[in-house]
Amino acid sequence: MKTRLSVMLAAALLSIYVFAQSEPYALGNFDHVVSQPAPGGDTTDGGPQAVSDIRSVAGVPLVRLNNGVMMPRFGLGTQVQSMEGASQRQQLNETVRGMVIAALQSGYRHLDDAMFYYNERGTGWGIRESGVPREEIWVTSKISGNLADAQNAFNGILERLQVDYVDLVYIHHPAGTLADILSCWRVMEKEYKAGRIRALGISNFDNRMEAFNYIMDSAEIKPQVAQIECHPLAQRTDARQLYAENYDIHVECWYPLNHNRNDPTNSTIQQIAAAHGKSVYQIILRWHMQEGLCPVPGSTNPAHILENISIFDFALSDEEMAAIRGIDRGNAGRSFNIGYGNYSFGNFQDYTYDHEYTPATTENIEVVEAIRDGVIYTLDGKPVGNDRTVLTPGVYISNREKIAIIQ
Ligand SMILES: NC(=O)c1ccc[n+]([C@@H]2O[C@H](COP(=O)([O-])OP(=O)(O)OC[C@H]3O[C@@H](n4cnc5c(N)ncnc54)[C@H](OP(=O)(O)O)[C@@H]3O)[C@@H](O)[C@H]2O)c1
Repeated sequence: MKTRLSVMLAAALLSIYVFAQSEPYALGNFDHVVSQPAPGGDTTDGGPQAVSDIRSVAGVPLVRLNNGVMMPRFGLGTQVQSMEGASQRQQLNETVRGMVIAALQSGYRHLDDAMFYYNERGTGWGIRESGVPREEIWVTSKISGNLADAQNAFNGILERLQVDYVDLVYIHHPAGTLADILSCWRVMEKEYKAGRIRALGISNFDNRMEAFNYIMDSAEIKPQVAQIECHPLAQRTDARQLYAENYDIHVECWYPLNHNRNDPTNSTIQQIAAAHGKSVYQIILRWHMQEGLCPVPGSTNPAHILENISIFDFALSDEEMAAIRGIDRGNAGRSFNIGYGNYSFGNFQDYTYDHEYTPATTENIEVVEAIRDGVIYTLDGKPVGNDRTVLTPGVYISNREKIAIIQ
């Protein structure tokens, strides 16, 4: 009996090993030579960041940044633009709380947030309730608005997310004066040295090269990550070359699905999706992975959240990658392309971007599998009541429990 059990255990371990080895395409770790001091250098114990425990989960590769820190190279975008109005913040944060739980339970370990999204409190609650330890999650936020008051902004980020360190903090937009941008960077460097930020980022700086050059000339800690709009119809080869090849800055892609506009209906992508029996969204995200990029797709729907990360069991061929490269429309394919200059987000927004949020009381939170004949079932096949108020497609709430629907 004992021998039979050992054989079964060995067979199970072998199949796990074979599965782990069967990555169909080398996604690469982009293993950089470390050229920057590690975070936490000003403290004897590395500061709060020293507890970080980032690992590869659900097939997502890690990338080693230019300061040696490992980042999961796939994440969840948490912005829900359609709910950002002042009267909708409660609903927005409830939705984001559900998205974050669904994503962490589906294997995501990277969350892309920003103070400008008015949803950091919902993200923080989602992290706490997900069951995944905070130190296993890569948490990003972005400072925007009044960059001269960055210390207040950063303190607010920690408080709203309910964390004692943030893995990556970007300057969201190169808006305002160069002096304000640098004063924000200095605060970020100070927090990096104290271990409360693990990597520094610039977002949309390719749209204002004087700000990019100013930071590269003046920064003591150079950026680890740059966020740009990037998807098959706007592949951003110039910006990618500038950051990745010239400066060893890892490129992260916002609007990886082009905000669900034109890329998913492109016929080349549709044909490749049909050939693989995958969705167009999976093909687009797999393209990002094979290009060495870090996409952060957003979705309010737990089924889509799970679908989007289920891209590590197939590979695009060289011909398919070339075909997708061929549909690039350059700048014409971009959704958002503004010059910044002295254009300041802080001029017309409350720069703290704070929001009130009281989480709805929940007895339990569960991911359910399906609605069949109007009845909602949990993952383990239990039918549950249907006295739910629809918050968003796929995320439901009742007076008893909050339920994320996978259908
Ligand atoms: N740095 C910056 O300036 C900047 C600017 C914009 C965005 N961002 C970041 O980029 C993230 C992503 O942007 P985004 O969410 O606006 O755009 P996106 O990821 O390109 O697309 C999201 C849209 O695609 C739909 N979708 C996602 N997966 C799907 C699937 N499997 N099947 C069908 N539909 C699917 C979503 O609808 P459902 O909700 O119905 O799934 C949503 O409408 C943001 O959350 C934010 O973190 C950064």
